[in-house]
Amino acid sequence: MRSTSFLLLLMPALLTGCLDEPAATPAEAPPATSISLVSLGQTLFEDTNLSSNGNQSCASCHDRTHAFTDPDNTIPVSEGSVPGLFGTRNTPTIAYARFIPALHQEFAEGDMLWMGGLFLDGREDTLEDQAKRPFFNPVEMNNADVPDLINRLRSSPSAVPFLDVFGADALDPGKENAALNQIARALAAFQRTPAFSPFNSRFDQYLRGETTLTAQEQEGMAMFVRADKGNCAACHVMSRSANGEPPAFTDFSYDNLGVPRNTDARFYTSTFADPGLAANVRVNDPVLNGKFRVPTLRNIEKTAPYMHNGVFTDLRTIVEFYSTRDSNPQRWGETEFPDTINRSELGNLKLSDREIDAIVAFMKTLTDQP
Ligand code: HEC
Ligand code: HEC
Repeated sequence: MRSTSFLLLLMPALLTGCLDEPAATPAEAPPATSISLVSLGQTLFEDTNLSSNGNQSCASCHDRTHAFTDPDNTIPVSEGSVPGLFGTRNTPTIAYARFIPALHQEFAEGDMLWMGGLFLDGREDTLEDQAKRPFFNPVEMNNADVPDLINRLRSSPSAVPFLDVFGADALDPGKENAALNQIARALAAFQRTPAFSPFNSRFDQYLRGETTLTAQEQEGMAMFVRADKGNCAACHVMSRSANGEPPAFTDFSYDNLGVPRNTDARFYTSTFADPGLAANVRVNDPVLNGKFRVPTLRNIEKTAPYMHNGVFTDLRTIVEFYSTRDSNPQRWGETEFPDTINRSELGNLKLSDREIDAIVAFMKTLTDQP
């Protein structure tokens, strides 16, 4: 988490429910990329030929109609191209992922904090670097190596737009590594388009003065921000970014919430533990065991299941967890890294049923319009 001083400035306005901010500037235009690079990116994003069994694309796990998460929300983690093989982490939304900064350290609240980085443990810095990984992950698209992937691209219909954009010789023998970088560029360009970050939820419309929120939603927003209530905005920040973009609902920092083990997950064994940030090779520090990057809450209504291990399936249970983790520990059971849990900002919030319902109602205002 980071300092809440800015939020405190915003608070009186939030509490009266009238945000007296200047009209929002429209979401920053995506970096100049040619239309054809973007549309190639979309084609590659949806191309199942690029997986070992010809059955899985990026879109299989990051489906647009589910805010770019796995459309099968009955399982905590996604199945790969090889049937029966599952990852160990819940597929996150990649809407708004273009705002995740590279992994870095920042001095905040008397501490050096890790911030940013793609993947829940921050192990890649850019959308380009991230995009190269799923192709070769055995529990995802499962290509053997770069030449294997590029062979599949050569025989896919996507080869036509690919050669159009990058030149007729772009898939020639010897150019495989360059082709992989070009695939990554196209996928990243597509993910930087407004389709992934439309900023058109009811909350955004409210910020722009185009709509009102219900009394319950406004109460929920106040609870979300107040440090003596939900305190959610301490991490899921609700202020504009330094660039003036609308709130990302994350400060990109890392925390161990002490979420329960997920004994229902396919990967679970009695000794399974996911160290998160601590296992990032650039960090490599056991003090950070069990810490995961604070996720955005935009579109949260559509992205069940929740948390890095998919242990929660509904929003109300999550707020109950934040409120009673420490006052009713027997309800929640064991967690993987009890020693590194954040105990200062959550765990015993004493929220009433009404306040919990209000926070849930507020979170549902963060759903982008189709
Ligand atoms: C089998 C399901 C699956 C497929 C296929 C898949 N992903 Fe993902 N994606 C995940 C999971 C799970 C994570 C989180 C993994 C982690 O943190 O280690 C993730 C993370 C990401 C992230 C980082 C999000 C964040 O908040 O840090 C991006 C961006 C992304 N994927 C894009 C892609 C692209 C582009 C493709 C296609 C090349 C793709 N994914 C294919 C499941 C999938
Ligand atoms: C100390 C920082 C912090 C505070 C305070 C906090 N959160 Fe979180 N939140 C996180 C982190 C970190 C995660 C991811 C944890 C994980 O996956 O293990 C998370 C995950 C979530 C998720 C699931 C997101 C997903 O995509 O799976 C929801 C919903 C959520 N928080 C809502 C809230 C609400 C509501 C509050 C206030 C009652 C709150 N958070 C307070 C840090 C925080």
